[in-house]
Amino acid sequence: MEILEFKDEEKYIEKVKKINNGKKLKYYIMTMGCMLNENDSEKLCGMIEKMGYEKCDDAKSSDLIVFNTCCVRENAEEKLFGKLGELKNYKKQKGAIIAIGGCMMQEKHIQKKLNESYPFFDIIFGTHTLNKFPEDLYNVLSKRLRITDILDIDGDIYEGLPIKREDKTRASVTIMYGCNNFCTYCIVPYVRGRERSRKPEDILREIKELSEEGYREITLLGQNVNSYDGGDGYKFSNLLSDIEKIEKIERIRFISPHPKDFTDDVIEVISKSNKICKILHLPLQSGSTAVLKRMNRKYTKEQYLSLAKKIKEKIPEVVFSTDIIVGFPGETEEDFEDTLDVVRKINFEQVFMFIYSRRVGTPADKMEDQIPEEIKHERFDRLKELVESQIPENNKKYIGTKQKIIVEGKSKNNENMLTGRLETNKVVVFEGNEDLIDKTIEVEITKDHVWYLEGKIEE
Ligand code: SAH
Ligand code: SF4
Ligand code: F3S
Repeated sequence: MEILEFKDEEKYIEKVKKINNGKKLKYYIMTMGCMLNENDSEKLCGMIEKMGYEKCDDAKSSDLIVFNTCCVRENAEEKLFGKLGELKNYKKQKGAIIAIGGCMMQEKHIQKKLNESYPFFDIIFGTHTLNKFPEDLYNVLSKRLRITDILDIDGDIYEGLPIKREDKTRASVTIMYGCNNFCTYCIVPYVRGRERSRKPEDILREIKELSEEGYREITLLGQNVNSYDGGDGYKFSNLLSDIEKIEKIERIRFISPHPKDFTDDVIEVISKSNKICKILHLPLQSGSTAVLKRMNRKYTKEQYLSLAKKIKEKIPEVVFSTDIIVGFPGETEEDFEDTLDVVRKINFEQVFMFIYSRRVGTPADKMEDQIPEEIKHERFDRLKELVESQIPENNKKYIGTKQKIIVEGKSKNNENMLTGRLETNKVVVFEGNEDLIDKTIEVEITKDHVWYLEGKIEE
């Protein structure tokens, strides 16, 4: 693995800018998938805007259309092919450039399908060639080439890419790329390469700069953040401690840690921290030890429960969020009951629920006892019902408490109200003056609804 500087590509940004000079071009970008992909899209936007394009919300008014794809579940594929179908005529009439990148492009069968059924794209690029986007675009514009720029490698790291962030107070910072865990259902290790960590000094410099630009909430990103390895024994807990010291940063989040690597030093740092949010994402996937074994998750139901208990003992105010898959091959009714049991016991603040989706090339796809669709859906509905039944109680605990929020903006449903988020990610809606946007304030929680809380500012 090498850590490389983006500098070599700068010249292509300049070349494209020259070609585009005075043309008032627009670009559209659609991002699928996880926060890592969103962070990649922010880098794409950074490069694209430097090349003279302005962002636009309508693909069919744009000169450059970019898709940053995900392939973790099947529905992303349907979404991409549907969108491409809609754009076929627009492309023919207006000649817009269509670029498709991200995780899905690393899959051979998808590359084949695009070439056979959607041959009107201009660029396909993968997860290891994001940095080369300006060069690929230059080759399309200047030589009218169709580009396939995909590398099948473990991956390098590029520092110094331009970045255009979506938000003004909250920023995501990727601390490591790739995954070594090979959970048997998951495509990510095949499309994102092996684990590789950024250098601590590069991460800390980026966060310092963000803090100076006014960012106050940082989310550290990686497929398995607690196996971060900064070299010379510098671990994830060291990184957290060092970020804590950056003065203007008020909130630190990270996603996702793997339960098997949630070590005591990390728990210790969180317990002492005033900035690390006391909501921890602890992906369960299944509550059944037998299923967990076949998923290659490397922990049992009991180990998961005792980890949560240990964390709670050290950090009493902590709450948890999680990811759960239902309908993994061979999942019996008892296995599923074990999942429900863990959900009842932990009382998660937030549960991201997924129906198992077969992914080409993963071991679970080849397992024999695949679960019929109707059983998967029936279990999904039962899990959802349980999770939703826990929401009112979870929300009620906030009533009457005073909470810190970073004000995000006007409420989407009511122009006269503002919204912000609690440390635990719950949305709070309250009456207040627009001047408060982007400020950190204290509110008292007065009422609970299913998906948000109401609050009032202290008089
Ligand atoms: N690295 C992260 C997860 C990344 S993928 C972690 O380990 O937590 C996000 C979530 O998608 C996973 O946690 C899992 O719940 C879900 N997922 C992954 N592959 C899936 C599949 N084949 N079918 C359904 N859900 C899947
Ligand atoms: Fe996928 Fe498992 Fe890696 Fe998460 S830890 S990205 S679920 S293989
Ligand atoms: Fe999807 Fe790739 Fe993220 S497959 S979940 S966008 S790492």
